[in-house]
Amino acid sequence: MAQDPDLKLDDSGANRQTTRDGYETMTTQQGIPVADDQNHLKAGAPGPMLMDDFHFREKMFHFDHERIPERVVHARGYGARGVFEATDDLSDVTSAGLFQKGKKTPVFTRFSTVAGNKGSPDVARDVRGFAVKFYTDEGNWDLVGNNIPVFFIQDAIKFPDLIHAAKPEPDRGFPQAQTAHDNFWDFASLSPETMHMIMWIMSDRTIPRGFRFMEGFGVHTFRLIDAEGKSTYVKFHWKPKLGMQSVAWNEAVKLNGADPDFHRRDLWNAIEKGDYPQWDLGVQLFDQDFADSFPFDVLDATKLIPEEDVPVRIVGTMTLNENVDNFFAETEQVAFCTQNVVPGIGFSDDPLLQGRNFSYLDTQLKRLGGPNFTRIPVNQPRCPVHTFQQDGHMAMKNPMGRANYEPNSWGTEAGGPREDPDRGYKHYPEEVRGPKTFHRSETFADHYSQARQFYVSQSAPEQKHMADALTFELSKVEHGKIRSRVVSHLLNIDETLAKKVAKGLRLELPEPARPARAPITDLAPS
Ligand code: HEM
Repeated sequence: MAQDPDLKLDDSGANRQTTRDGYETMTTQQGIPVADDQNHLKAGAPGPMLMDDFHFREKMFHFDHERIPERVVHARGYGARGVFEATDDLSDVTSAGLFQKGKKTPVFTRFSTVAGNKGSPDVARDVRGFAVKFYTDEGNWDLVGNNIPVFFIQDAIKFPDLIHAAKPEPDRGFPQAQTAHDNFWDFASLSPETMHMIMWIMSDRTIPRGFRFMEGFGVHTFRLIDAEGKSTYVKFHWKPKLGMQSVAWNEAVKLNGADPDFHRRDLWNAIEKGDYPQWDLGVQLFDQDFADSFPFDVLDATKLIPEEDVPVRIVGTMTLNENVDNFFAETEQVAFCTQNVVPGIGFSDDPLLQGRNFSYLDTQLKRLGGPNFTRIPVNQPRCPVHTFQQDGHMAMKNPMGRANYEPNSWGTEAGGPREDPDRGYKHYPEEVRGPKTFHRSETFADHYSQARQFYVSQSAPEQKHMADALTFELSKVEHGKIRSRVVSHLLNIDETLAKKVAKGLRLELPEPARPARAPITDLAPS
């Protein structure tokens, strides 16, 4: 029989776990009332500790195990609860219930830096994570995005190298900054596919004024799938109602010194005051014909689809209106995964996304100590969950009753859940053929055209900030060859920019890097 959590312990009806002056009585994890929490049990005073002191041993044991591994990336983050309200109806392109006009879906959102460890300062020059868990009626959908619409690499197999190069160098354990060191620039300069993202990280985007002032992007091309099984490609965009704002580099440096918690404090205070931050969710929708006519591959995560070509359609608003009750329980233990999709939303063949779908669950198995982390309240779906999965560390919701397998013949009373061919998640039946190969598609080969497009789209002060940032960051690189290699790529992006940086570094202008493919001059879809 289930135990009544309010069970009173004594016959008189009063709960004995209350002190005479009205406090809750301190107990051990086993519920034993504690008499002395200031001194351990000893033989004589002073005298050796006695093993009998179960309270001391339990208290110290628990303290000794307080830390769990920090996230391998995005270790420093800050989260809040909220709600997403659909303001437009997307049932013409997706069966996902959360996109029906007026539908409200609870969310948990975590913002983060990528490279710094858990104790690093907030206003570092870095990409920001923007991860949203939607607790929909048909399970959890995680939109695990960043504040920049493109990424450094095209294939997931390069991710460990990118992160090793960006994190502190292994022999010396510094520097913390993502950008200011030889290993990072060595990797970037040897990987021309990073060049578009390099332009973005050298821009003011990577020193936001606060989380409330950031855009967010799903980055990859995903699919929306309608009730008939038709697929439409989609890119997701978050647009802050407060507009996008950044700080200048000298402000960032001062802020990091004066208040390393600047971003988290800003978000917490705004929500406490009732000044709830909001973002509109927008979608860029396009079909295979557009994809075929686009000069770049829509599956290449180092490319974006210009909003002039495919305008962003606003479909809903997210409001963050509740701070967490406990930082560790929620913000630290939340587990996002690109693989968490709901009926009506699907994957594309983006080779970065495909690898991410493996990585998140894998890392969380270790970070959260076993296969049952979906039982942690922040990760629990808000809809019914029925599986035959059982046991493992911290199993808290094993299948009850006789059946823990299927098919079984125990009927609706005792037989447990059944699959639902009508309403269950259906993968988009994309036709696939071709040889097994490591080959990267030729359509991924132009690394400079969109980098240039981004640079020239910036205002004059923004372009100056980018030139200053490149000069400053590369001035921290000790090896001349690496600096020179970066400038050789810049020459393919914008000659004036390359010359400014070379001059700032007192560097002789190198030959331009040899592009893998001729740049695309006409950037509009054909
Ligand atoms: C966190 C892997 C690319 C956004 C993580 C974590 C891993 C990971 C292992 C830690 C997860 C955890 O401990 O819970 C990868 C791999 C990638 C990749 C293998 C490429 C192959 C990206 C991209 C984006 C992104 C392209 C943005 C579109 C995030 C975010 C988090 C994260 C926002 C933090 C989630 C949170 O707040 O808990 N990633 N990542 N990652 N990643 Fe990625």
